[in-house]
Amino acid sequence: MRIAVCPGSFDPVTNGHKDIIYRASKLFDRVVVSVTVNVMKNPSFTVVERIQMIEKATSGLGNVVIDVCDGLLADYVKRIGACAIIKGLRAVSDFEYEFQMALANKTLYDGAETLFLTTSSENMYLSSSLVKQIGAYGGDISPFVPECILEDIKRRIVEIYKPIN
Ligand code: PNS
Repeated sequence: MRIAVCPGSFDPVTNGHKDIIYRASKLFDRVVVSVTVNVMKNPSFTVVERIQMIEKATSGLGNVVIDVCDGLLADYVKRIGACAIIKGLRAVSDFEYEFQMALANKTLYDGAETLFLTTSSENMYLSSSLVKQIGAYGGDISPFVPECILEDIKRRIVEIYKPIN
Protein backbone atom coordinates (compact mmCIF):
# COMPACT_ATOMS: atom_id res chain seq x y z
CA MET A 1 0.00 0.00 0.00
CA ARG A 2 1.40 3.39 -1.00
CA ILE A 3 0.90 5.90 1.78
CA ALA A 4 1.47 9.66 1.45
CA VAL A 5 1.58 12.25 4.20
CA CYS A 6 0.15 15.76 3.73
CA PRO A 7 1.71 17.69 6.62
CA GLY A 8 0.89 21.19 7.73
CA SER A 9 -0.30 23.50 10.45
CA PHE A 10 -3.79 23.75 8.90
CA ASP A 11 -4.52 26.76 11.10
CA PRO A 12 -7.17 26.64 9.63
CA VAL A 13 -7.53 24.34 6.60
CA THR A 14 -8.24 26.38 3.45
CA ASN A 15 -9.55 25.64 -0.04
CA GLY A 16 -5.91 25.43 -1.11
CA HIS A 17 -5.18 22.61 1.37
CA LYS A 18 -8.41 20.84 0.47
CA ASP A 19 -7.49 20.90 -3.22
CA ILE A 20 -4.06 19.38 -2.54
CA ILE A 21 -5.53 16.67 -0.27
CA TYR A 22 -8.17 15.76 -2.88
CA ARG A 23 -5.60 15.52 -5.65
CA ALA A 24 -3.19 13.49 -3.49
CA SER A 25 -6.00 11.07 -2.61
CA LYS A 26 -6.27 10.18 -6.31
CA LEU A 27 -2.56 9.38 -6.54
CA PHE A 28 -2.04 7.25 -3.41
CA ASP A 29 -3.77 4.32 -1.72
CA ARG A 30 -3.90 6.22 1.55
CA VAL A 31 -3.32 9.87 2.41
CA VAL A 32 -2.57 10.79 6.01
CA VAL A 33 -3.26 14.45 6.66
CA SER A 34 -0.93 15.19 9.50
CA VAL A 35 -1.56 18.19 11.72
CA THR A 36 1.91 19.19 12.77
CA VAL A 37 2.60 20.81 16.09
CA ASN A 38 5.03 23.52 15.03
CA VAL A 39 7.04 24.80 17.98
CA MET A 40 7.94 27.93 16.01
CA LYS A 41 4.31 28.96 15.53
CA ASN A 42 1.58 30.11 17.86
CA PRO A 43 -1.59 28.57 16.41
CA SER A 44 -5.00 30.22 16.56
CA PHE A 45 -6.96 26.95 16.55
CA THR A 46 -6.37 23.99 18.87
CA VAL A 47 -5.16 20.71 17.40
CA VAL A 48 -8.59 19.18 18.05
CA GLU A 49 -10.36 22.05 16.26
CA ARG A 50 -7.99 21.77 13.31
CA ILE A 51 -8.57 18.02 13.07
CA GLN A 52 -12.35 18.43 13.24
CA MET A 53 -12.29 21.02 10.46
CA ILE A 54 -10.12 18.84 8.20
CA GLU A 55 -12.46 15.90 8.89
CA LYS A 56 -15.44 17.96 7.75
CA ALA A 57 -13.61 19.36 4.72
CA THR A 58 -12.47 15.92 3.52
CA SER A 59 -15.50 13.83 4.43
CA GLY A 60 -16.38 11.51 1.59
CA LEU A 61 -12.76 10.74 0.76
CA GLY A 62 -12.51 7.09 1.84
CA ASN A 63 -8.71 6.85 1.70
CA VAL A 64 -7.94 9.99 3.73
CA VAL A 65 -7.22 9.83 7.44
CA ILE A 66 -6.27 12.62 9.83
CA ASP A 67 -3.56 12.35 12.44
CA VAL A 68 -1.21 14.45 14.57
CA CYS A 69 2.58 14.67 14.27
CA ASP A 70 4.13 16.22 17.36
CA GLY A 71 7.75 15.44 16.57
CA LEU A 72 9.97 15.49 13.53
CA LEU A 73 8.11 14.88 10.31
CA ALA A 74 10.86 12.58 9.01
CA ASP A 75 10.49 10.27 12.05
CA TYR A 76 6.73 10.27 11.67
CA VAL A 77 6.88 9.43 7.95
CA LYS A 78 9.20 6.53 8.69
CA ARG A 79 7.05 5.26 11.56
CA ILE A 80 3.84 5.09 9.55
CA GLY A 81 5.57 3.63 6.49
CA ALA A 82 4.77 6.47 4.09
CA CYS A 83 6.69 6.73 0.82
CA ALA A 84 5.85 10.38 0.05
CA ILE A 85 5.43 13.79 1.64
CA ILE A 86 3.01 15.89 -0.40
CA LYS A 87 3.31 19.66 -0.42
CA GLY A 88 1.42 22.29 -2.36
CA LEU A 89 3.66 24.80 -4.08
CA ARG A 90 2.18 28.24 -4.59
CA ALA A 91 4.38 31.09 -5.71
CA VAL A 92 8.14 31.28 -6.12
CA SER A 93 8.25 32.66 -2.58
CA ASP A 94 7.36 29.19 -1.24
CA PHE A 95 10.16 27.52 -3.09
CA GLU A 96 13.22 28.26 -1.01
CA TYR A 97 11.66 27.23 2.29
CA GLU A 98 10.06 24.13 0.80
CA PHE A 99 13.30 23.15 -0.93
CA GLN A 100 15.14 23.47 2.38
CA MET A 101 12.60 21.30 4.20
CA ALA A 102 12.56 18.69 1.43
CA LEU A 103 16.35 18.35 1.55
CA ALA A 104 16.42 18.25 5.35
CA ASN A 105 13.69 15.60 5.47
CA LYS A 106 15.51 13.54 2.84
CA THR A 107 18.68 13.68 4.91
CA LEU A 108 16.83 12.69 8.06
CA TYR A 109 14.96 9.86 6.33
CA ASP A 110 15.88 8.64 2.89
CA GLY A 111 12.88 6.30 2.52
CA ALA A 112 10.36 8.91 1.35
CA GLU A 113 10.27 11.50 -1.41
CA THR A 114 8.83 15.00 -1.12
CA LEU A 115 6.46 15.63 -4.01
CA PHE A 116 5.19 19.08 -4.90
CA LEU A 117 1.78 19.59 -6.44
CA THR A 118 1.38 22.90 -8.20
CA THR A 119 -1.40 24.74 -6.51
CA SER A 120 -4.53 25.47 -8.54
CA SER A 121 -4.41 28.97 -9.98
CA GLU A 122 -7.31 30.24 -7.88
CA ASN A 123 -5.40 29.31 -4.70
CA MET A 124 -2.07 30.78 -5.79
CA TYR A 125 -2.10 33.54 -3.17
CA LEU A 126 -4.09 31.77 -0.46
CA SER A 127 -2.80 31.01 3.04
CA SER A 128 -4.22 30.38 6.50
CA SER A 129 -2.71 33.66 7.74
CA LEU A 130 -4.41 35.59 4.96
CA VAL A 131 -7.76 34.04 5.92
CA LYS A 132 -7.24 35.01 9.56
CA GLN A 133 -6.16 38.51 8.64
CA ILE A 134 -9.19 39.11 6.39
CA GLY A 135 -11.47 37.63 9.07
CA ALA A 136 -9.92 39.76 11.81
CA TYR A 137 -10.85 42.87 9.83
CA GLY A 138 -14.40 41.61 9.40
CA GLY A 139 -13.90 40.71 5.72
CA ASP A 140 -15.65 37.93 3.82
CA ILE A 141 -13.59 34.73 4.05
CA SER A 142 -16.13 32.54 2.26
CA PRO A 143 -14.19 32.42 -1.05
CA PHE A 144 -11.18 30.96 0.72
CA VAL A 145 -12.35 28.18 3.03
CA PRO A 146 -14.58 25.10 2.61
CA GLU A 147 -18.21 26.08 3.10
CA CYS A 148 -18.84 23.32 5.66
CA ILE A 149 -16.39 24.92 8.11
CA LEU A 150 -17.00 28.58 7.33
CA GLU A 151 -19.05 29.21 10.47
CA ASP A 152 -16.55 27.32 12.69
CA ILE A 153 -13.74 29.54 11.45
CA LYS A 154 -15.72 32.76 11.69
CA ARG A 155 -16.78 31.97 15.25
CA ARG A 156 -13.20 31.36 16.32
CA ILE A 157 -11.86 34.45 14.58
CA VAL A 158 -14.42 36.57 16.40
CA GLU A 159 -13.34 35.01 19.74
CA ILE A 160 -9.65 35.48 19.10
CA TYR A 161 -9.37 38.74 17.25
CA LYS A 162 -12.59 40.53 18.21
CA PRO A 163 -12.79 41.92 14.64
CA ILE A 164 -11.20 45.29 14.24
CA ASN A 165 -14.10 46.87 12.29
O1 PNS B 1 1.57 24.56 7.12
P1 PNS B 1 3.00 24.87 7.45
O2 PNS B 1 3.12 25.50 8.81
O3 PNS B 1 3.68 25.68 6.38
O4 PNS B 1 3.76 23.47 7.49
C1 PNS B 1 5.12 23.38 7.84
C2 PNS B 1 5.39 21.97 8.37
C3 PNS B 1 4.40 21.63 9.45
C4 PNS B 1 5.26 20.99 7.24
C5 PNS B 1 6.82 21.95 8.95
O5 PNS B 1 6.92 22.95 9.92
C6 PNS B 1 7.15 20.59 9.58
O6 PNS B 1 7.42 19.64 8.89
N1 PNS B 1 7.08 20.52 10.93
C7 PNS B 1 7.34 19.30 11.67
C8 PNS B 1 8.64 19.41 12.48
C9 PNS B 1 9.81 19.11 11.57
O7 PNS B 1 10.02 18.00 11.12
N2 PNS B 1 10.58 20.16 11.29
C10 PNS B 1 11.72 20.08 10.40
C11 PNS B 1 11.25 20.15 8.95
S1 PNS B 1 12.61 19.95 7.86
